[in-house]
Amino acid sequence: MEKMRVAVIGYGGMGGSHVDSFANSEVVELAGIWDIDEEKIEAAKSKGIHAYSSLEDLLSDKSVDIVTIATPNDVHKDIAITSMAAGKHVICEKPVAMNSSELSEMIDASHKYDRLFTVHQNRRWDSDFIAIRDLCLEGKLGKVFEINSYVQGSRGVPGDWRKEKEHGGGMMLDWGVHLIDQILQIKKDVKIDKIFSVSDHITCDEVDDGIKTDIFFEDGTLARVVVGTSNFLSMPRFYVCGMSGAARITTWGAVCQVAVCTSWEDEAVKPVKTAAGITKTMAPRDAKTVEYYDVKLPDSDVHDFYRNVVKAIHGEEEQLVKHDEVMRVMLVMEAAIESDRIGNCVKFNDII
Ligand SMILES: NC(=O)c1ccc[n+]([C@@H]2O[C@H](COP(=O)([O-])OP(=O)(O)OC[C@H]3O[C@@H](n4cnc5c(N)ncnc54)[C@H](O)[C@@H]3O)[C@@H](O)[C@H]2O)c1
Repeated sequence: MEKMRVAVIGYGGMGGSHVDSFANSEVVELAGIWDIDEEKIEAAKSKGIHAYSSLEDLLSDKSVDIVTIATPNDVHKDIAITSMAAGKHVICEKPVAMNSSELSEMIDASHKYDRLFTVHQNRRWDSDFIAIRDLCLEGKLGKVFEINSYVQGSRGVPGDWRKEKEHGGGMMLDWGVHLIDQILQIKKDVKIDKIFSVSDHITCDEVDDGIKTDIFFEDGTLARVVVGTSNFLSMPRFYVCGMSGAARITTWGAVCQVAVCTSWEDEAVKPVKTAAGITKTMAPRDAKTVEYYDVKLPDSDVHDFYRNVVKAIHGEEEQLVKHDEVMRVMLVMEAAIESDRIGNCVKFNDII
């Protein structure tokens, strides 16, 4: 099959990453890039990459099938709609837009111009997430009642547009969007009841530099999503509790530690003695009543994202990152932001 030609708009960190990835793709190839920053244009040219002279120049290139948008978040919507109107299929970086009403306009445009429109939710291909998702869905831990997903750094918000509200800065839109999307992939069919969220402003006033978002599902599961940028030590990346087991991934690339209860009764509990007291309730179990084992993280290939886009354009597969999924993520983020604003829980009117 002939490779589809992709033009990348915004040749910064993520635009560069898309461009680099095409070198190893059997389904897409680079047509060129466009960026409003002359330095980025020169950087592309110095690598032998074709740089268009304007957005119009790019969109009038009939050889371009797909446009990948990797600009700051505030201009995603206009570029996406203009590109679809010009006949291009569109892949938009996350967060897809600044809010749900912008996203509605983008979805409407994809129907109006009959173009594929999807979002680069690449962290669905993270192997730590896949391991946790599969454990939750296979039921090995019994009924899962709590999923904790933490991403923590210690360098504050990057000092570019991510610090500025008008460009869609802040960690909710930057990392929250990934973590919420992952949770909603695990809980695709379970309605959300309510959301409680608190934003951090430890190193930055204008936008949040971290979030703590609790998503309460109607089946009783609590998903806690935490993003931090002032954490010199981190909580585990994932920590999941089920009625008969638990799973934990301590950090990027670590194995998934699993504990499965083999016998609830534990006769010979040795109390833990601390400096100031004793406890049997909180004493750890041992191999007599719990089986402990490690699960290696599965292999994963993020090129499957572009493979799916190409097949979906040819009508051979359903697109993996769907409109209603990105809308649900956007609505959860909006409810979380509202919860932080009012300092209270927000009832969620789920769309599934
Ligand atoms: N999926 C991921 O893992 C991931 C990772 C990083 C960033 N992103 C997303 O990618 C997007 C870009 O982030 P980044 O880190 O690459 O930012 P960046 O600042 O490194 O790059 C953005 C580029 O867009 C250019 N630009 C700005 N306005 C433009 C316009 N109107 N037309 C053309 N070019 C324009 C800038 O000059 C810059 O070169 C954001 O939406 C971000 O959330 C996604």
